[in-house]
Amino acid sequence: MAVMIKKVGVIGSGQMGNGIAHVAALGGFDVVLNDVSADRLKSAMATITGNLTRQVSKKLITEDAKKSALERISLVDTLEELGSCDLVIESAVEKEETKRKIFQDLCAVLKPETIVASNTSSISITRLAASTDRPEKFIGIHFMNPVPVMELVELIRGIATDDATFDSSKEFVSKLGKQIAVSEDFPAFIVNRILLPMINEAIYTLYEGVGNVEAIDMAMKLGAHHPMGPLELADFIGLDTCLSIMQVLHEGLADSKYRPCPLLVKYVEAGWLGRKTQRGFYDYRGEKPVPTR
Ligand SMILES: NC(=O)c1ccc[n+]([C@@H]2O[C@H](COP(=O)([O-])OP(=O)(O)OC[C@H]3O[C@@H](n4cnc5c(N)ncnc54)[C@H](O)[C@@H]3O)[C@@H](O)[C@H]2O)c1
Repeated sequence: MAVMIKKVGVIGSGQMGNGIAHVAALGGFDVVLNDVSADRLKSAMATITGNLTRQVSKKLITEDAKKSALERISLVDTLEELGSCDLVIESAVEKEETKRKIFQDLCAVLKPETIVASNTSSISITRLAASTDRPEKFIGIHFMNPVPVMELVELIRGIATDDATFDSSKEFVSKLGKQIAVSEDFPAFIVNRILLPMINEAIYTLYEGVGNVEAIDMAMKLGAHHPMGPLELADFIGLDTCLSIMQVLHEGLADSKYRPCPLLVKYVEAGWLGRKTQRGFYDYRGEKPVPTR
């Protein structure tokens, strides 16, 4: 039997987690947002409020809808407080050990029928499911960034995911007004299997001196009609997340064509992770982004 989803937990309140909380609350679900960092929770709420206000000013939603959505979101700093959720979506950092630890602690406090999902960009859903007490109720629900704007969500079944879990997840995503692409459980699924090697190749193009940051981004915007250049997009996604996805592709598909560019590794080692740390392929600390190479 499909689970009736009313209350949704979101773990990780970074750029993706706050977006998922935003669209779920706007879709009429009660939302419990969790993070290990109280500061991240506070800034997530400020981001959600700002993004809902922008939607009101663009006449995409009413002031009343904004107010009700904000009232539906509660912030919590322990996993115990997710105990009454019908669906919990994990959206913490793209590190398999972190996610596995979260699932172990989380499952101990959940109702047996609760669906557990991961917003992972690349990690095997089957492997993550195996670290839970409910592989048949585990699924990949992969949102795109920025969540309130992007229309697509990828749904990924693990080897054990049952039909009821798939159907309930499908219904939940449809209620958010998103379109669904179903992907098999292969490293990085569909969107990132195609997108990330392109971004990694753009970084190689920079590394080998074929073009500088500005030339590469301009070439792809004006020459291929991409709305953002690949390096600008990498900064937007987060360079740590880009590196993790390339590592999953490289290890998971065992093909050297997916090797992460050493320059990407260097930026991550420097802590230059893109927009979220104010520096990546561009420096965002001034009035206008300035290329760093
Ligand atoms: N950035 C993107 O474009 C994008 C797109 C789709 C999916 N994703 C996936 O979404 C997930 C989150 O990415 P993000 O870009 O929001 O990262 P982010 O760095 O903005 O946020 C991660 C958040 O997780 C929190 N966190 C870390 N450990 C935690 C724990 N044990 N419990 C609770 N919270 C914890 C951090 O404090 C932080 O607030 C990753 O799995 C990523 O691959 C990212």
